[in-house]
Amino acid sequence: MQNNIFSGLFVAQKLVTLKEVDSTNTYLKNILANSTPVPEGTVIMAESQYAGRGQQQNRWYSSTGESLAFSILLNPAFLKPDQQFDLTRAISLGIHEALVPLLGEAVKIKWPNDVYVDKRKMGGILIENTIRGNAIKHSIIGIGLNINQDNFPEWVPNAVSLKQILHKDYDLKALLFELCAGIESWYIKLRAGETSLIRERYLQALYRYNEPALYTAAGEVFEGTITTVTDNGLLKVVHEQKPHLYNLKEIEFLHNH
Ligand code: BTN
Repeated sequence: MQNNIFSGLFVAQKLVTLKEVDSTNTYLKNILANSTPVPEGTVIMAESQYAGRGQQQNRWYSSTGESLAFSILLNPAFLKPDQQFDLTRAISLGIHEALVPLLGEAVKIKWPNDVYVDKRKMGGILIENTIRGNAIKHSIIGIGLNINQDNFPEWVPNAVSLKQILHKDYDLKALLFELCAGIESWYIKLRAGETSLIRERYLQALYRYNEPALYTAAGEVFEGTITTVTDNGLLKVVHEQKPHLYNLKEIEFLHNH
């Protein structure tokens, strides 16, 4: 365990670095369940995760010294449960903002919150919220990014690392601090009620926004165009001149490399 000094206001003021853990999200959930108070903004980072979790009950692959795997505790009690997707947007924008100086326009957010570079996935976010009454009490923001990998196992489809794109190794801790600064700045905007700005910027950063592309849903393959994301996070795709709304499990992006 270790504390570092970071110039942000609260995110990563307390940083716990673990050699190995099942999942940083699970670790944070467990320490919250014990009675010791955990300050908002606490970051748990792992050098190695042996049971990393992804969205939709998927496993998350990370490799020691090559991946960033960390979780941040936020307490967005100012948000109602039906505003959860604005938190997803703000976190995605924070990560996007930190990566644009390195990757330029090629970095996008694939709905709902994957980090994409061109047609490949460089990272993902797993947000686990605890609802109390009509507010979000705790939010565990788990972030996994592929940084220094030269290659990936076969069961990790469509992945790419920063190194594969930019052909050099990166310092994980330095990147972590850049990401935390980006996340903190967008979280502060969310807390200040700047929802319209957040929604607008999210669309600007969205992979395939306003571009015809291939999808599959309900057993059908079709060309469609993402025209927006609803307030509560449904993806709106127009195909055959009609708008259709999709939830996470209902639509798949098709990639033809
Ligand atoms: C996804 O795209 O499926 C989300 C992946 C999220 C992975 C991160 S790594 C740190 C944190 N701990 C976990 O077990 N998962 C998240």
